[in-house]
Amino acid sequence: MASGQLSREEALACVGCRHACHILLYADTEAQLFEEIPIRHIVLMQMRFDGLLGFPGGLVDPSEESLEEGLSRELWEELGFSLSVTVEDHVSSCHNPSSSSSHLITHFYSRRMEEKEIREVEKAAASTATDHGHEVAFVCTVCLHLSFWHSLHPATFSTPPLFQVMGMVRVPLYTLKGGGGGLPSFLSHSFIGNSRSQLEDALVRFGLVTPEELQTALTHAEQMRK
Ligand code: GTP
Ligand code: MN
Ligand code: MN
Ligand code: MN
Ligand code: MN
Repeated sequence: MASGQLSREEALACVGCRHACHILLYADTEAQLFEEIPIRHIVLMQMRFDGLLGFPGGLVDPSEESLEEGLSRELWEELGFSLSVTVEDHVSSCHNPSSSSSHLITHFYSRRMEEKEIREVEKAAASTATDHGHEVAFVCTVCLHLSFWHSLHPATFSTPPLFQVMGMVRVPLYTLKGGGGGLPSFLSHSFIGNSRSQLEDALVRFGLVTPEELQTALTHAEQMRK
């Protein structure tokens, strides 16, 4: 296993570790961009409240619920879509010693869906972001921090509600003529935690792009970030 990687069982045996579970949802599609460029697969990520890209999911306390129950709950909170995640969907678990929150283990899951179903997810997530939000955070009236810093000023949280997810986005898997458009520019954005490497790994692992396509895209992305 790659460095930092551990099995689901090893991860759960870690004393004092915190756990976060996220999932890659994808589907095959015949659709074409501009009726010309095959999209090949619909791969979903989300724009987080902090402006970073990441996968849907979140923190899970295994003493309260299983990793998969927790991930299913987060999907309901963030997407407004009910999906029962199982152990079979588990892809990898990774210890993140260098992250600011020490001892965070990130568990990565994936689920291949039908195109029709993934469009339902997109629809649900869009209405969640605009009006029927299930997940609201509250702003601290003293420090203006969101409610996950609730412990600092427990009594001062109030409205207005603020959505933690700005919306779902599709990952462009193609490269447009000239080399930089599409996957290269997507990869040049900023990602939360190790979600960028989770994405890169999954794209090749599930045959969504070839290793060569990824390598070329990464080279272009690197140049764009300079
Ligand atoms: P709260 O309910 O506000 O606590 O958020 P949440 O439970 O939805 O947690 P979040 O999705 O922000 O994930 C928790 C932590 O996991 C983050 O602070 C990041 O460090 C990390 N994280 C978030 N998204 C991803 C992701 O897509 N991949 C990986 N590997 N880590 C992530
Ligand atoms: Mn969440
Ligand atoms: Mn989350
Ligand atoms: Mn949460
Ligand atoms: Mn939350």
